[in-house]
Amino acid sequence: MSALPASGRAWHLTARPHGWPTADDVALREVPVAAPGEGRILVRNLHFSVDPYMRGRMNDVKSYVAPFQLDQPMDGGAVGEVIASNAEGFAVGDHVLHGLGWREYADVEARHATKVDGSLAPLSTYLGVLGMPGLTAYAGLFETASFKEGDAVFVSGAAGAVGSQVGQMAKIKGASRVIGSAGSDEKVKLLVEEYGFDAAFNYKNGPVAEQLKQAAPDGIDVYFDNVGGDHLEAAISSLNVHGRATLCGAIAQYNDTAPAPGPRNLALVIGKRLRLQGVLVRDHAALQPRFVQDVSGWIRSGELKYAETVVQGIENGFDAFLGMLRGENTGKMIVSLAH
Ligand SMILES: NC(=O)c1ccc[n+]([C@@H]2O[C@H](COP(=O)([O-])OP(=O)(O)OC[C@H]3O[C@@H](n4cnc5c(N)ncnc54)[C@H](OP(=O)(O)O)[C@@H]3O)[C@@H](O)[C@H]2O)c1
Repeated sequence: MSALPASGRAWHLTARPHGWPTADDVALREVPVAAPGEGRILVRNLHFSVDPYMRGRMNDVKSYVAPFQLDQPMDGGAVGEVIASNAEGFAVGDHVLHGLGWREYADVEARHATKVDGSLAPLSTYLGVLGMPGLTAYAGLFETASFKEGDAVFVSGAAGAVGSQVGQMAKIKGASRVIGSAGSDEKVKLLVEEYGFDAAFNYKNGPVAEQLKQAAPDGIDVYFDNVGGDHLEAAISSLNVHGRATLCGAIAQYNDTAPAPGPRNLALVIGKRLRLQGVLVRDHAALQPRFVQDVSGWIRSGELKYAETVVQGIENGFDAFLGMLRGENTGKMIVSLAH
């Protein structure tokens, strides 16, 4: 075995942000690296994920996922190469998906690592289209929203990792109309010209409710919410009788310092018999085999496209996270570690 590195860098949370996170809330620190103990593997990370839910983990509040600890490395999805193994079934050179991102070297309990095959799909896709965001789109559309052929679907955050997959999956499965909203004219163009959306609009160009009504004059049957706020309110107004909304995320309010007001038109839910239901991807692990089979098939056939915005270098990891919150990504935001 070649010599292991003595240390590596890891992003630590050093203060709990109030509002938008700043460089004062984090630090990139050198930490020691040791040979893996019994049942563990040492992984050199090649790509790690920066995701919206990580903003919530910076707060010290009880949630469905534990907060990041102060002065400890942050964590999250990552893919890397095993450089030392003390666990049966894992060999040096294997590629694995695991949960200790935000660092160069990860000392991973082998039972929390999944082998992935870089010859079947680029390793970064296990963090995006073939990973957690892809499964979120699949589960949130087909299970939570009970999507059926002929539905008109509206998705917000439509050029992002989850949203871009939702719209295309709906199209593949026979949606009558797919509408997306995103935060730039370039993203809107991509949705219509590359991803086959029937209509899309830039939510920064005017009120969401008006733009949605124009894009969906006959209303919508399904709303996939990645944003919350005025998007959710507009969707409630446009949903048809027996419409369904999947509440997947509310990124418009993740950096708010006071609770956001609820949709002012919630009473419409009654008359229209709407169903608004939350989704958590971790409840849907049983869908994984069908999800991988469907999505890899659609990618191979060219029916489903995906994008990644790749930021190089661990030192740029925190900026990549902020950039994702600001909308600088198209598709999945990935941090790649050049060695
Ligand atoms: N429930 C679950 O299990 C689960 C799992 C994964 C993700 N999620 C949620 O799904 C949503 C999308 O996640 P993702 O990983 O696919 O992220 P993403 O869409 O790839 O990236 C975040 C995007 O949010 C948009 N955004 C930022 N601020 C906004 C605002 N004020 N209004 C509207 N859009 C805004 C930006 O795009 P624009 O340029 O379009 O503004 C940005 O690119 C998030 O809300 C996330 O929390 C939930």
